[in-house]
Amino acid sequence: MEYSNNSKDFEEGKCEGQKVVDGEIMPLVLQPPEPNKGDLESLLSALKKNKDWFEQMITKNSALLLRGYRVNNAEDFNEIIEAFSWDDIRYVGPAPRTHVYKRVWTANEGPLSEFIYYHHEMVLIKEYPKKVILFCEIPPPEGGETPFVPSFRITERMLEEFPEAVEEMEAKGLKYSFTACSKNDTSSMRGRGWEDAFGTSDPAEAERRAKALGMDMEWLPNGGVTTTLGPRTLTKVFEGRKGRRMWFNTVVGMHGKDHSSAMMADGTQIPQDVVKRCGEIIEEESIQFKWEKGDVLFFDNLALLHGRRPSLPPRKVLVATCK
Ligand SMILES: [Fe+2]
Repeated sequence: MEYSNNSKDFEEGKCEGQKVVDGEIMPLVLQPPEPNKGDLESLLSALKKNKDWFEQMITKNSALLLRGYRVNNAEDFNEIIEAFSWDDIRYVGPAPRTHVYKRVWTANEGPLSEFIYYHHEMVLIKEYPKKVILFCEIPPPEGGETPFVPSFRITERMLEEFPEAVEEMEAKGLKYSFTACSKNDTSSMRGRGWEDAFGTSDPAEAERRAKALGMDMEWLPNGGVTTTLGPRTLTKVFEGRKGRRMWFNTVVGMHGKDHSSAMMADGTQIPQDVVKRCGEIIEEESIQFKWEKGDVLFFDNLALLHGRRPSLPPRKVLVATCK
């Protein structure tokens, strides 16, 4: 079934940095149809009236930006999330995050000076969110964009340049390892302690929870832990997304780092030049715009990688993740 971008309850807008990818504009920008429809109440009633259409637009365009509405704080953002009937999914992963209000959390609280590398949210966990929704409460004065990348384009371009390596990684599967320290340490983005990541300070309980997520754990003499996961697939094809083969992995983000590794599941190393070139392709395919106060951005997490560019303070972007 084909859906058009037209609903009389929204007007299609433009933003700097938009790209047309395989015929779809990313992000699709929706704004008030008339100036007096920019209040939260008007937005909520437009969303409730167009729920199904709106969700189709997220899937069709992969990224959808609501702009020009008076969305002021976490409470307002939460009402937008609750206008839909999408279930919440709890964040599990290395990023330091704080609960703000109901379904709203801070995005990664790692230092603003660091680049948070491109990823599908919770890509290594068995159950990952279908939607990642971000709200800009305080736009950064400089930098701090949230770049995103149509994942299928990475698979396409990697297949053009490295068909054999891609098929080998696909056939063998991947395994990852990740080392977490023992206490919360916000001096690093990766500094989220295992206690916080697994919601317990009991090692045995942490291990049970890790197993349930499909991870193995090995305790270190310093109280930290090395977590291994695998095998995991290189790419995935999801229903309703044109058969696109998504680059649903975190090889570039984890390969050859101090605290992490990525290799083929049988122990074969992934060639450095393949990883390096993949990182360049991801950057070339990235899309970004400048955050404005009140922006609400919906990502199809099955279709997009996203990250965060280094930023000058202040910057406040909040997040909700949905099934
Ligand atoms: Fe993320």
